[in-house]
Amino acid sequence: MRDFYPEDMVWRNRVFDAWRAAAERFGFQNYDACVVESLELLQRKSGEEVSEQIYAFEDKSGRKLALRPEMTPTLARMVAARQTRLPFPIKWYAIAQCFRYERMTRGRKREHYQLNMDIIGSEDVLCEAEILGAAVAAMRDMGLPDEAWRIHVSSRALLGELLAKSGIPEVQHAVVFIALDKRGKISDEEIAGLLRAEGLGDAAIAKTFELLAVTSLEGAEALAGAESPAIANLKALFALAREMGYEELLMFDIAVIRGLSYYTGIVFEAFDVQRKFRAIFGGGRYDSLLALVGGQPTPAVGMGFGDVVVGEVLREVLGSRCPVARRGYMVGYMAIEQRPAAVAFAARLRAEGNDVDLALLPQKPKHFFSKAGASSAKYAVFLGPDDLIAGVAQVKNLETREVLPMALAPVR
Ligand code: HAM
Repeated sequence: MRDFYPEDMVWRNRVFDAWRAAAERFGFQNYDACVVESLELLQRKSGEEVSEQIYAFEDKSGRKLALRPEMTPTLARMVAARQTRLPFPIKWYAIAQCFRYERMTRGRKREHYQLNMDIIGSEDVLCEAEILGAAVAAMRDMGLPDEAWRIHVSSRALLGELLAKSGIPEVQHAVVFIALDKRGKISDEEIAGLLRAEGLGDAAIAKTFELLAVTSLEGAEALAGAESPAIANLKALFALAREMGYEELLMFDIAVIRGLSYYTGIVFEAFDVQRKFRAIFGGGRYDSLLALVGGQPTPAVGMGFGDVVVGEVLREVLGSRCPVARRGYMVGYMAIEQRPAAVAFAARLRAEGNDVDLALLPQKPKHFFSKAGASSAKYAVFLGPDDLIAGVAQVKNLETREVLPMALAPVR
């Protein structure tokens, strides 16, 4: 599990602040839930891969519980419990800590935080566009240039149409999706083996791989036909992205399938352009999940945006030290005699709403100013005997090096 030292928290807060600001800017309401969930709910609703990674345990009453590997089953449970009262469509977001017993690799940890944004109760593709728009806003807010990353978009409905056209019956689609999602992680021969084990013949397997060779939306349209509802849906998403100012970030990629079994429509995953890192965020439409947890059938779409990969991409783009805007004051003093004046000065600044880091011990000016320079404070104030005699503090702006005098209040 992860420890966050102050220098790590600077990065984490940069990500969390951007997440929260973007979700709020796009009108999502915040919700939350306990990290401990019913094991049964998680095993039934998560994708095959995730359910193998669940941290599970029994409590003292023998209840089978787990640390959630993702937020979506919990969200579905919460929504189903209030289904008759909620004003659908609802737009909810949470920053959820999640646990997965994964093999630790670059970008994958056993504990991570995930921004979840979901819209429940609407089939309209504007939902997908809004969720992606909010994710784009968060990425831009964090300081990631558009050139550095792309959102790969496909549709399980489209792949379903294409598989059906290739003669693969619908009952087999779910296992085909899960097998194809392993592409890149295991060899194509191994995937073919998985498909064969599910009863697909060699011709069907060859056709399945042929579909994955499609490289453009036009290519997919040529196979699916001009009347394909899945193609119309994808085109509508690209048109909305154009209106919203992020079309250049979207790219059609039939290989995006997603490892979770509940997706039914458009699916997406974001990657750095060099593909050095794992997925930055991922999600899609899941119109059947609410009914599966005992609710009324309700369309839904959402995404999970983890803190780990984006943190790595940010460090790569912005450098190893997180750029922070300088703010607040650092107040120091040369000897114990100046301490009451420094305490009073800090108290005054704090009462005025400023953040102040008051030195706990007297220091030499050189030591104080080098510490202030390395800190994130915007102003440094150092009190020596002369300042007290003059009744004036010299406030140094650490960005401009300008020094402004400020009257010291008489010490009581
Ligand atoms: P997911 O693709 O499993 O989807 O995870 C979403 C994101 O969480 C990933 O793109 C990645 O950023 C992060 N993530 C996942 N596992 C790890 C890990 N072990 N270490 C670090 N980061 C990780 C879901 O979880 C879906 N529930 C998303 C969703 C919400 N779909 C609809 N609504």
